[in-house]
Amino acid sequence: MMKIAASRVRLSEIDEDVLVVPVFKGETPHEGPLAQLDAMTSGLVSSAYNSGEIEGKRDQWVLLYQTGPRGARRLLLYGIGELDNTGYLDLQRIAGTAIRILADRNARSVAFLVRDKLDGDSARAIVEGAALGSMEEDVFKSVKEQTSHIERLTIIGESDGIDIERGVKMGSVMAEATNFARTLANEPGNTMTPTELALRAREMGAREGLEAKTLGEEQMKELGMGALLAVSRGSNEPATLTVLSYTPPADVATSSELIALIGKGITFDSGGISIKPALNMEEMKYDMGGGAAVIGAMQVIARLKPPIPVIGVIPASENLPSGRAVKPGDVVRSLSGKTIEVVNTDAEGRLILADAITYAISLGARQLVDVATLTGACVIALGEVRAAVVGSDQHLVDELIEAGEQCGERLWHLPLDSEYSKLIRSDIADVKNVGDRSAGAITAGAFLKSFVGSLPWAHLDIAGTAWLEHSKPYMAKGATGFGVRLMANFVLNRANR
Ligand code: BES
Ligand code: ZN
Ligand code: ZN
Repeated sequence: MMKIAASRVRLSEIDEDVLVVPVFKGETPHEGPLAQLDAMTSGLVSSAYNSGEIEGKRDQWVLLYQTGPRGARRLLLYGIGELDNTGYLDLQRIAGTAIRILADRNARSVAFLVRDKLDGDSARAIVEGAALGSMEEDVFKSVKEQTSHIERLTIIGESDGIDIERGVKMGSVMAEATNFARTLANEPGNTMTPTELALRAREMGAREGLEAKTLGEEQMKELGMGALLAVSRGSNEPATLTVLSYTPPADVATSSELIALIGKGITFDSGGISIKPALNMEEMKYDMGGGAAVIGAMQVIARLKPPIPVIGVIPASENLPSGRAVKPGDVVRSLSGKTIEVVNTDAEGRLILADAITYAISLGARQLVDVATLTGACVIALGEVRAAVVGSDQHLVDELIEAGEQCGERLWHLPLDSEYSKLIRSDIADVKNVGDRSAGAITAGAFLKSFVGSLPWAHLDIAGTAWLEHSKPYMAKGATGFGVRLMANFVLNRANR
């Protein structure tokens, strides 16, 4: 992680490899900071403008090599389009893009000029974007193709200094946790086993001061977690269920109800006996993206210490076919006592979540949020842009939507009318684990709902948003850590209400 600072130095005093300067459409090099930079660089900025290569259009950029004695050694003029394109998400995107442009261009220190007011929010956005953009993709290559040399990021702008430190801290805490979740989800199934995922969660807990414990299969059997154990039967890797508990410090009074964040931790989903096609099956290593997001969100909570008790629950398993595997048509008894007809072994996420939900309730949870790469139907409906949310409580759903809008992890609310629950009625058991082909993302939610009873609950389907097929200018392809900042914001917002 690079070192980050905010500072009020003058443009001529900057001593960094690169200064990033956002530029607007319609702006000329004859006014404001551009004129100042133009003078410092003996007309370099105006010659860039004269060439027509940069006009301030959105995402247009040019890198200038300064030969003068003062200021940054290179200038990255980055177009942001309209004058008001400097909101939180714009800054985050621009900072991420700039860092990725500079990562393999041998820059060690980067300064970022804030054109609007430098305050806590803008500082947070830049730090968050830059840190998310700086994660490298080729971690398993013996010889790295691109290596970022960036060691230091300095944010520069007009400010009264208020809240900036806090903004920098918030941004780095959020981004570090998101990158942690991304690293977990990018790791292949042969090393990221259920046991390993549990270990990494507990390691984080120990480091950050959370209470942590993991149930093994023996304990699951004793408790009666027949749904979770049905999924892990086909694998030689034992299932795990990890609980991370955050208790607010004694001096902050709390009357809040215990929130449970529950994340699907399928470390590889082959589909089991209802096996998936080979094409793209390798991507199913990220089927623990929900579990990773919960681990990341708990890291943020541990560091920022809201006055609300929260537990993170991560059920983890592989889903593989074998002579012992659960079969289509099998009936299993869940921890709740409800019996489930397993019609399709590829709908395994909802099985492990069902037992995790019941377990969370037994631990005292009174507000439940689960997050899971649950259905291909969600990918078809919303793609990689938005995750789906369904829930039993409009207020909770609204809070999650708002928390997501704040950080760019956008949700879309799908309905959950009682008619959808009819689609998962079983002839021989209390419920079956799949409906017909219709409304797949919703029937998955309807299945989970039957395990929450009357408690406020919401379910996030991140099947489309947890993974980027292609890199974005501001973010490497692969796992996105979607859900970390959303869930953390959700908890922190509650604390501020
Ligand atoms: N892990 C998958 C869902 C998934 C698909 C995640 C694509 C990410 C990308 C899940 O376990 C699954 O296989 N769901 C089935 C459910 C079906 C059998 C009702 C699906 O969506 O096809
Ligand atoms: Zn599956
Ligand atoms: Zn799955």
